[in-house]
Amino acid sequence: MNILLIGSGGRENAIAKGLYESEGLKKIFCTPGNPGIENFAESIDLNTSNHNEVLNYCNINNINLVVIGPEVPLVEGLADFLTQYDILVFGPKMLSAKLEGSKKFTKEICKKYEIPTAKFNSFNEEIMAIEFLKKQKFPIVIKADGLAAGKGVIIAENLDEGISAIQKNFSGAFNEAGKEIIIEEFLIGEEVSFFVLADENSFKELTSAQDHKRIGINDTGPNTGGMGAYSPAPIMTSKLKKETIERIIKPTLKAMKELGCPFTGVLYAGLMITNEGPKLIEYNVRFGDPECQVILPRLKTDLLSLMINCCKNKLSESIIEWDKRYALTIVMAAGGYPESYETGQLITGIDLAEKDPNITVFHAGTRKDNNSILTNGGRVISVTSFGSTVKEANTSAIDAINLIKWNNSYYRSDIGWRAIKREDNE
Ligand code: AMP
Ligand code: GLY
Repeated sequence: MNILLIGSGGRENAIAKGLYESEGLKKIFCTPGNPGIENFAESIDLNTSNHNEVLNYCNINNINLVVIGPEVPLVEGLADFLTQYDILVFGPKMLSAKLEGSKKFTKEICKKYEIPTAKFNSFNEEIMAIEFLKKQKFPIVIKADGLAAGKGVIIAENLDEGISAIQKNFSGAFNEAGKEIIIEEFLIGEEVSFFVLADENSFKELTSAQDHKRIGINDTGPNTGGMGAYSPAPIMTSKLKKETIERIIKPTLKAMKELGCPFTGVLYAGLMITNEGPKLIEYNVRFGDPECQVILPRLKTDLLSLMINCCKNKLSESIIEWDKRYALTIVMAAGGYPESYETGQLITGIDLAEKDPNITVFHAGTRKDNNSILTNGGRVISVTSFGSTVKEANTSAIDAINLIKWNNSYYRSDIGWRAIKREDNE
């Protein structure tokens, strides 16, 4: 089987590795790819917004399966287009991808199906939004409706911050994404991510993970794409999982079926565990990054056969098995990220770190220059390790990170701190 993988992050590096280790694989092509992905796939250059270009490439190269890593091609309907031509596509169709692509769409589903989530109102006019805000308590959360590369959520501590967040949206800072906004209740609790895999007929629970979105130690500073993660997340007890499946996942899958577009692929629920139980913060319609770098290394089931069963609506035939240990990944970023940062710095020590069979380095913002690897983005690499405890996994990831060097690199040493605190108290 020939596969076309779409994406260029640590997530796609983890997917490429998983597929490469699968049975029945002939060749992986990846667009645009990165130097880490190139260990498993041939990098190619396609404009994935041009659906005919992707289709032609698939036809010429006998591609049987297209695996879509990021959200944008899903929201643009690439899966809908390719499946018309009998190409298997791992990832949901356009209407299902709206669960990530439009916060209002998801909130309306939550309302109709009584899915627990923050109370909300939506606005498409600045004046109305500000008038509403004046009557609210703070903190409050203001969100661009559409995709804003993880930057569209602002937690306003007071009216001034709220008004400037509203104005930012309506002045076009998030382009089309901010033309409609959601103002919602601030939820208090601990965040956790829960993943399921769905085909048109059934779904299977995958696992849980906890991301660390803030740039600074102790979850301080601005939000990033994610500075590290671990899986499974012990906070997600079997009781909470059951509640999440019954009250959040099942009604959502039912809603998409009733809308005529059954959800297929990875459904990633961002949850807040509140005093009233789990509440949905948001959906993503794909693996998370860096969550994927801790989920797939734990997956014992053959990834390719799982994806194919998912595409062929035979998911019920798959048995999903996991490594029982914890996996933890720490993102090494360019100093300055998520604001401005330098690129082109020489990275050394990756080979040294990977001598330990417990360690895998996934590339994100890197590029090759002859035989050297240079930094080429904000989140540069992520270093994944296993442990029988979260603390053990954190310590060995940091040992590996200490071997990897470039000018002005940055990482959070406290990835997993909530779970480690619980372990220390046991
Ligand atoms: P999102 O892009 O929707 O995941 O939001 C980014 C981050 O903002 C989340 O991971 C939360 O930390 C925070 N957030 C979003 N919505 C809420 C909410 N209603 N209450 C508290 N925090 C929230
Ligand atoms: N790590 C958060 C995300 O992938 O959306």
